[in-house]
Amino acid sequence: MLKIAFLSQKGGSGKTTLAVHTAVAAHEAGERVVVVDTDPQKSATVWGEARSQDYPIVATAAATELLRVLDVAKQEHMTLAIVDTAPHAAPDATKIVRAVDLVVIPCRPTAFDIAAAGSAVDIVKAAGVPAVFVLSACPFRSPEIAETRTILAEYGLPIAPVEIIDRRAFSRAVASGRAVTEFESEGKAAGEIRSLWNWLKEQM
Ligand SMILES: Nc1ncnc2c1ncn2[C@@H]1O[C@H](COP(=O)(O)OP(=O)(O)OP(=O)(O)O)[C@@H](O)[C@H]1O
Ligand SMILES: [Mg+2]
Repeated sequence: MLKIAFLSQKGGSGKTTLAVHTAVAAHEAGERVVVVDTDPQKSATVWGEARSQDYPIVATAAATELLRVLDVAKQEHMTLAIVDTAPHAAPDATKIVRAVDLVVIPCRPTAFDIAAAGSAVDIVKAAGVPAVFVLSACPFRSPEIAETRTILAEYGLPIAPVEIIDRRAFSRAVASGRAVTEFESEGKAAGEIRSLWNWLKEQM
């Protein structure tokens, strides 16, 4: 079972959005997926409760219970666990990243997100866990996208070639317990998420 965590110390960077959409894209691509929501805000859990589909499974767990939940998921023959995390999860963050195969750090192309990226990088580098960046909620065709790529490249981690654009489809889909690949299967947002999942799979 592959394990991916979405991590950033910055609130609102897109962790939960990317986690749930990637989970559905992976499910649609044939994976047996569990989303593990370790954030006390329970955003992914609320999304899971609003869903009419049974898959992907959404489990709620404190960071201290993560290893046990991942163990159960493996016994249940899940092939992919996607872990959503709380912002400012500093002590728990180390525990979480040590439990997974790949950490995805979402970063909006804004000064505040870029400034916060370093602390997530410090956590993954200290734990020795592979990590990648994904540019999230990018204003369409904005010059900040390329600027952000240049700045993040200095950390020496891979950056997803696909950018996730700021699109209403993401928030609309989530509001109805869906993902963009279900809400507008042929839409641009769905295409971005499928590309992201295909690329993440290649990183593991
Ligand atoms: N690509 C996108 N297009 C449109 N809206 C987006 C996109 N990504 C995120 N958002 C919106 O931005 C807000 C924050 O996103 P999200 O909840 O995924 O961030 P988060 O990192 O999980 O936040 P927190 O740190 O509070 O858990 C949400 O309202 C979400 O709908
Ligand atoms: Mg969240």
